Amino acid sequence: MGKDHNLLEELDKTTLPQHVAIIMDGNGRWAQKRLMPRFAGHKSGVNTVRAIVEASVQLGIKALTLFAFSSENWQRPQKEVDTLMDLFVSALEREVAQLHKNNVCLKFIGDRTVFSSKLQQRINESESLTAANSGLQLSIAANYGGKWDILQAVQKIAAKVKANELEPSDITVADIETYMCLADMPAPDLFIRTGGEQRISNFLIWQLAYTELYFTEVLWPDFDITAFIEAIKAYSGRQRRFGLTGEQVAKQGNA
Ligand code: FPP
Repeated sequence: MGKDHNLLEELDKTTLPQHVAIIMDGNGRWAQKRLMPRFAGHKSGVNTVRAIVEASVQLGIKALTLFAFSSENWQRPQKEVDTLMDLFVSALEREVAQLHKNNVCLKFIGDRTVFSSKLQQRINESESLTAANSGLQLSIAANYGGKWDILQAVQKIAAKVKANELEPSDITVADIETYMCLADMPAPDLFIRTGGEQRISNFLIWQLAYTELYFTEVLWPDFDITAFIEAIKAYSGRQRRFGLTGEQVAKQGNA
């Protein structure tokens, strides 16, 4: 950790992203390259999760959102789904005390109702334990899909309209955002996808509207502090325009 610690210390803290969202891809290929079962890649991926969470805490990043299991991942072979579920339970049991000690506030986003009662129980316990923590907001997307997120917001708004509490023409973007996952935090500044694919894969499709996208070939188990720093530096070097011209943004910066 000593060398990594120094690397983190050297980063320019004034241009850090406040919220980082990550698709952790490449576990299976990492394992297959080593002639190991895919599960070994997921297990190794948990170590990367720990390292990136610790680095985010150390950097003072406000929010980290990780895509652990998509609504489409149920279609994988049953054995892989089962081992992933077991891994989530054991990772929660093992890691939550340390997260709490690090003042991390842990939340799960996605439809948790289909998980085993044991996993739901661990999720609920870890959320209650860490609810009052004021440090890193760590959101784990599990059985999450961006289209599902928009759908469940629309359903809640439709119920209000039906109850005559809201006129359809009065619905605003802010109203929709109130009902979406991650409503209580700013949109991600930086999106990272490991494993070489260049897709959003139904992750935070609404929330990523103005997010800077960063793709790397590095497989998730190999994504270390150096790779994380490289992504942060790439983000820091970009000019975020939110639809304005470069000149307008430069003027704002000077104001
Ligand atoms: C994608 O790699 C990864 C997943 C579907 C699972 C991600 C889970 C972890 C990193 C472990 C646990 C996480 C937490 C939060 C405890 P892939 O299997 O699609 O890899 P491939 O593209 O090489 O096949």
